Amino acid sequence: MKKLRAAVIGCGAIAHHCHIPGYLKNRYTELAALVDPYEKNLKEACAKFNIERGYTSLEDLFANESLDVVSVCSPNIYHAEHAIAALNHGCHVLCEKPMCMNLKEGQMIQKAAQKHPDSIFMVAFTHRLYSGNIKARRMIEQGQIGEPYVIRIRFAHQGPMTGWAMSDWFFTPSKAGGGAMFDMGIHAMDLAQFYFGPIRKINAMMATLEKKIELEDNAILQFLFASGKMGYAEVGWSSKQGFAGVEIHGSEAAIINDYFEGLYLMKGESSATGKRIIRKRMIDKNPCQGGWDVEIDYFVNAIRKREQPEMGLQAGLNSMKVAMAAYESAKKGKTVTI
Ligand SMILES: NC(=O)c1ccc[n+]([C@@H]2O[C@H](COP(=O)([O-])OP(=O)(O)OC[C@H]3O[C@@H](n4cnc5c(N)ncnc54)[C@H](O)[C@@H]3O)[C@@H](O)[C@H]2O)c1
Repeated sequence: MKKLRAAVIGCGAIAHHCHIPGYLKNRYTELAALVDPYEKNLKEACAKFNIERGYTSLEDLFANESLDVVSVCSPNIYHAEHAIAALNHGCHVLCEKPMCMNLKEGQMIQKAAQKHPDSIFMVAFTHRLYSGNIKARRMIEQGQIGEPYVIRIRFAHQGPMTGWAMSDWFFTPSKAGGGAMFDMGIHAMDLAQFYFGPIRKINAMMATLEKKIELEDNAILQFLFASGKMGYAEVGWSSKQGFAGVEIHGSEAAIINDYFEGLYLMKGESSATGKRIIRKRMIDKNPCQGGWDVEIDYFVNAIRKREQPEMGLQAGLNSMKVAMAAYESAKKGKTVTI
């Protein structure tokens, strides 16, 4: 079978860590070209990965290449424009998160995707591909924690600058669309819905606590799900240490998916007297296996099976709705219904 010809738009950190190596190692794809308007980043990526064809504009890319697959790895402000251009050129699209800047752009992507129903569209919600989250969801479906009722998520690190991003857009509101809430919170919102279904109400508080930037570097989010279950998330760009992962509490047991320490099933009893009996069973010592390492294979598999992936357009739109509602909630100081 002819290999799928892929291009990666935006040659920054996530392209280096996931998309470019992913297409190079997948046996069904050929990495045809890279795009970046900043020649330094373009040349560096072409040289590092031995890719001959690099372009500084999308026009040149589509004028010169016949493509099947495009990864959108540009700053958030360009996601909608680049995803729509790729769809209109008949490509399957893997779009980085957040899918776009606002709901209007989300609808524009949706319209373009509806015009091209044969194109597979996936949003890079990588946490869904961690072995720990896949196992934890299966355990819940099997009834191993009884009836789940609360989810807690904490995704926090030191932030994208310095040490990660290869360009300077993350702290520019007009290019990023939001701060830590948008960057990290969108993963938390998606993962919360991956476990518990649609979020119906959100209450959000945000602040700039540590960095000298115009965007929030910390956010605390409370969720009420359509099912009546509850959840909360803490996300931030100022955390040098501490828990990162997911906890899900059920009527019979809890799942602790500590991204650094491992995935545990925790059973036991506790009483108001302070007496506790805890039984902790290790399920997965390295729950962050997968993720970026398998993302391109997962996407290519969906293309080959001609099946829209679960982390597709609707998941992208759902998380955007929750993110926009979170900003509204923080601004107005009240709970917002989605
Ligand atoms: N899924 C994940 O876990 C994950 C992790 C990190 C970043 N991301 C997302 O990936 C995207 C890129 O982030 P990054 O960390 O690689 O940033 P980065 O700054 O390292 O890279 C962005 C690249 O895009 C290029 N660029 C700028 N304008 C462009 C344009 N008009 N067209 C094409 N390229 C352009 C820049 O020159 C740079 O090389 C963001 O949307 C970010 O949220 C996702």
